[in-house]
Formats: sequence, C-alpha cells, structure tokens
Amino acid sequence: MKAIIISLIALCGLSTEVNGEVYQADIERGQALATAQCESCHGNAVIAMAKQFPNLKGQKLAYLNKQLVDFKTGLRLDPLMQSQVSALSSEQLQDVALFYSLLVTPKLSAN
Ligand code: HEC
Repeated sequence: MKAIIISLIALCGLSTEVNGEVYQADIERGQALATAQCESCHGNAVIAMAKQFPNLKGQKLAYLNKQLVDFKTGLRLDPLMQSQVSALSSEQLQDVALFYSLLVTPKLSAN
C-alpha cells in the first residue's frame, strides 16, 4: 500500500522523494531564483519579454516541472535552457516551477 501511494505521488510530478522524505517546493526560493536567473529572458510578473522566450506564468505545475527536468536530462534540447538548468538541483527546479505556475498574467483590457 505504501509503495502504491509513493508511486502515485511520484506520478503526479509535484514532489520528489529522496531517502523517504518528500520534498515540498518553496515558492520564496523559487521567486528568488526566477528574479536572479530567469527574468532576464522570460520577463517578470508584469512585463513579458521578446516573443522567442515562452511565457511561463500560470502554466501548469506538472508541465513546467517536466520541461525543466527534460532540459536537464537532455530529453528536450535547447542550448540556452540546457545551460540555464544544468547547475540547478531538482529541488530548485521544483521551487521555480511552483513560483511560475502560481503567477497570473495581468489582464490589460479595461473591462
Ligand atoms: C538566456 C535566456 C533564458 C534564460 C535566462 C532562461 N530561459 Fe527558459 N527558455 C529560453 C528559451 C529560448 C526557451 C524556448 C526553448 C525552446 O524553444 O525549446 C525557454 C523555455 C523555457 C521553458 C519551456 C516553456 C514551454 O512553454 O515549454 C521553461 C519551463 C523555462 N524556459 C524555464 C526557465 C527557468 C525556470 C529559468 C531560470 C532558471 C529560465 N527558463 C531561464 C530562454 C531562457
């Protein structure tokens, strides 16, 4: 039973288990990392950057996590992004994915 629960958690891609401890992503660490390393290309809460840099705000957490892991493992190829994530830990990837998944794109229309 325990094994089933653990594999269900792993399948969700929301947390990882290391030595029996489940990592809980930290939004503040994610924000600090995004400000220091990701904003220059992906923009911040208000400003989107150039079109060649995809929007990360409000994307599904599991999607962001998977893309970051795929860049790190070489399953998804992009020289810019692979160099961005190569030095980051799995915990840092989860922190920053959580941060971006909870950002909301501001509505710019007057209505
Ligand atoms: C030097 C510019 C640059 C920086 C800095 C950068 N990225 Fe990216 N990122 C890109 C580009 C370019 C792509 C599109 C890659 C492609 O076309 O496959 C991308 C794609 C992504 C994607 C996939 C989005 C999607 O819609 O599939 C994620 C997630 C992502 N970046 C997260 C991050 C995070 C988190 C950081 C900070 C740790 C970061 N990026 C820093 C340039 C950058």
